[in-house]
Amino acid sequence: MVELDEIFKKAKAELNSIKDTAELNNFYQQYLGKTGIITQSLRNMKDLPNEDKKTFGMKLNSVKNELFILIKNKEKSFEIEKIEQKISKTKDIDLTTPCQEKRGSLHPITILQNRLIDIFLSMGFTVEDGNEIETEYNNFEAVNIPKNHPARDMQDTFYLENGQVLKTHTSAAQNRIMRKYGAPLKAIFPGRCFRNEELDASHENTFFQIEGMMIDKDVSVANLIYFMEEMLKNVFQKEIKVRLRPGFFPFVEPGFELDISCPYCDGRGCRVCKHGGWIELCPCGMIHPEVLKMGGIDPEEYQGFAFGLGFSRLAMMTYDITEIRLLNSGNIKALSQAKIK
Ligand code: DAH
Repeated sequence: MVELDEIFKKAKAELNSIKDTAELNNFYQQYLGKTGIITQSLRNMKDLPNEDKKTFGMKLNSVKNELFILIKNKEKSFEIEKIEQKISKTKDIDLTTPCQEKRGSLHPITILQNRLIDIFLSMGFTVEDGNEIETEYNNFEAVNIPKNHPARDMQDTFYLENGQVLKTHTSAAQNRIMRKYGAPLKAIFPGRCFRNEELDASHENTFFQIEGMMIDKDVSVANLIYFMEEMLKNVFQKEIKVRLRPGFFPFVEPGFELDISCPYCDGRGCRVCKHGGWIELCPCGMIHPEVLKMGGIDPEEYQGFAFGLGFSRLAMMTYDITEIRLLNSGNIKALSQAKIK
């Protein structure tokens, strides 16, 4: 026992003078290695008289454990020393700089777009891309807006030198998608649209829409209402009522403006819905037979609905953004206030 105390004392003194990991490894072997002093003593225990075995064994074990902990601590202190040395040699790390954790995030429009895509995918819609530069034919003629039609004036268009246009609406992809898939068809196509508008708090020259089309036998306005209600329930996480008012768009007949019961006051009337209880959300309608025909689909056999949801508006409502210009501004400070739910 006394010998054991002596060994431990000596070991501690030696440990204090150890200066690097190599020395520490030797020390470990010397005491705790296979042929080390402690390991040997454990082996020799069998020669002790039975009555001493227990107390000696306990003592030996505690010396062994303590030594092990001391060695581990020493090892750690060498590691810390190494890191500190490295840092002190590196001049381009300034550890006094305040640490601010700034996490980036997707843009509110992208978050909403992804969410809408997920919702429509789950309802069996295909997701398609539209072009940003379009032919005049796709942007206008193919959706029943011939040259000199007054509806062309409603959409102030950016014309390119080659006669093509920056697409003024996602409807510009309707024709291509009908030709690609034929009927039946269920597709959405989100995209960026451009109009030569004066900017103000609610008008932008660049905005985002998501166009949807469903074409099949026996499709009616009831299907349109069903899918819009399902989508809204998912976005706002509660039941949202919709109502249709007549609206004119050359590519649908009949055409509608779809209003939603105000998600802020549940239709009771508040500042957001200007106390009317309803908010105008998106134009839609039953696809005009001429548009189906131009897409290569027989209107005698198939019908369909279409909608063009401007989701700058929806993003503003979902995330409490009050200025449409913020959405394209790259103003991170303001955008990060958006209440992304
Ligand atoms: N393309 C129209 C616009 O941006 C919106 C629109 C209206 C799309 C009615 C539709 C629709 O699909 O059915 O002005």
